[in-house]
Amino acid sequence: MSHPIAIPFREVDAEALLTAEGRIALLAEPGTALGAAARRLDRASRGAVARALASDAFGKLKPGDALELAFPAGLACEALQLVRLPKRTDTASARRAGGSIGRTLGEAPLTVLADTHPRAAEVAFALALRAYDFTAHKSGEQKPAGPVQMMVSSPEVVAAEAAPLFAVAEGICFTRDLVNEPANVLTTFEFAERLSALSALGVEVEVLEEEDLSRLGMGALLGVGQGSESPSKVVVMQWKGADASVAPLALVGKGVVFDTGGISIKPAGGMEEMTMDMGGAGVVAGVMRALALRKAKANVVGLVGLVENMPDGRAQRPGDVVRSMKGDTIEVINTDAEGRLVLADVLWYAQERFQPQAVIDLATLTGAIIVALGGENAGVFSNDDTLCGAFLKAAMAEGEGAWRMPMGEGYDARLKSRIADMMNVGGREGGAITAAQFLARFVKPDVPWIHLDIAGVTLAKSDQTLSRKGATGWGVLALNRLIRDRYER
Ligand code: BES
Ligand code: MN
Ligand code: ZN
Repeated sequence: MSHPIAIPFREVDAEALLTAEGRIALLAEPGTALGAAARRLDRASRGAVARALASDAFGKLKPGDALELAFPAGLACEALQLVRLPKRTDTASARRAGGSIGRTLGEAPLTVLADTHPRAAEVAFALALRAYDFTAHKSGEQKPAGPVQMMVSSPEVVAAEAAPLFAVAEGICFTRDLVNEPANVLTTFEFAERLSALSALGVEVEVLEEEDLSRLGMGALLGVGQGSESPSKVVVMQWKGADASVAPLALVGKGVVFDTGGISIKPAGGMEEMTMDMGGAGVVAGVMRALALRKAKANVVGLVGLVENMPDGRAQRPGDVVRSMKGDTIEVINTDAEGRLVLADVLWYAQERFQPQAVIDLATLTGAIIVALGGENAGVFSNDDTLCGAFLKAAMAEGEGAWRMPMGEGYDARLKSRIADMMNVGGREGGAITAAQFLARFVKPDVPWIHLDIAGVTLAKSDQTLSRKGATGWGVLALNRLIRDRYER
């Protein structure tokens, strides 16, 4: 498992900066006075720092962007990165600054001079997120990035601010590792095992096996996994950070470790991306890890349905009818619309067992949401304006794109089946919405619910502010904030 890079905070030491090897990053804003250490760097470089900060090029930078001086005369470092960031700034800019620094981090040591900057902890957090890389399957010795240290005027204060942020960074790294992992490694067994390891942090973890699921009547979920050599599992993770009398928030994740489409098989081109079809379960896992590490004072239960959707002699066929745990029957028109079948049973189980005060599910559910929103925003569907508003606000504050989508009876009517209670698909038009309508049928009346269709935001096609190409960990930040603001006492 990978961890965010450690960033120790230490007192500002101007002399050490002059002889520091590797890279130095300096937070600065043109027109505002430099701190003593930055002035010392400027003097040693015979005014290069001040000239660069006064330049047009620097003046044109957006907050959080950077300009680099290579092999500055008078200093031992190989590069001095000047990062534009005013003292009074917002979280987004501070994180952009951390992202700019993290993007350029290599094997050379890095010293960040944040001095008295009030957002130093936020910069360090973003730096660590951006420096994440998935190297588990690269042969040869992997040289670790850094080491990184940050010089600040009050190290203890900044370290205390950074601690809960780094707990969340741990959660995000966990999510990214799970999402990046190929399906021959991250089988349902391996996934359940990695989740079971959360028990070391105080999370109560249970693994329900096929016989348990069959006893519970989870015919919809079991149908999806029946063509795979890897048995289907449901993993229940309970974090009990609040009084036992407080009903939990339930987080439910789609954990399709690989989605071939089943008998309704997908085309070959791009099918390898379907290793990420457990992204919803990955986010649930990351949130649970973050909550446990920062000892959140909330009751949260995470439930994930782990299955593999394979074509096989025993695989489910188009036209099969399955019975869900709720009791409703489903005509499986398309075996590639499998995520909703998995979620139907896990959603129902979550409500029956835990009587949660709210339910949030996450799933890489439809290609249609990618057509609608691209990689910029996840689709948000909800039956509760208050909860939905709170989530959108949390996502906005964390810089995670989220956009509410409509629901309604007209969409729901598309799921009508001739021979069963419903079909599992509602046609191409509005495909992400009919998928949400299907899920809504498995949400009890009066249970506030959000469905997050994260198919477009789970894997990035190119480098982002806080992540490289690949798994983003989208959702961990927003959910962590929602829990902090709404469910912690
Ligand atoms: N896992 C896919 C959705 C998906 C597509 C995720 C692309 C990430 C990237 C899901 O199981 C699926 O196959 N959905 C079908 C539904 C259709 C058959 C109604 C889809 O979107 O094509
Ligand atoms: Mn599918
Ligand atoms: Zn899928």
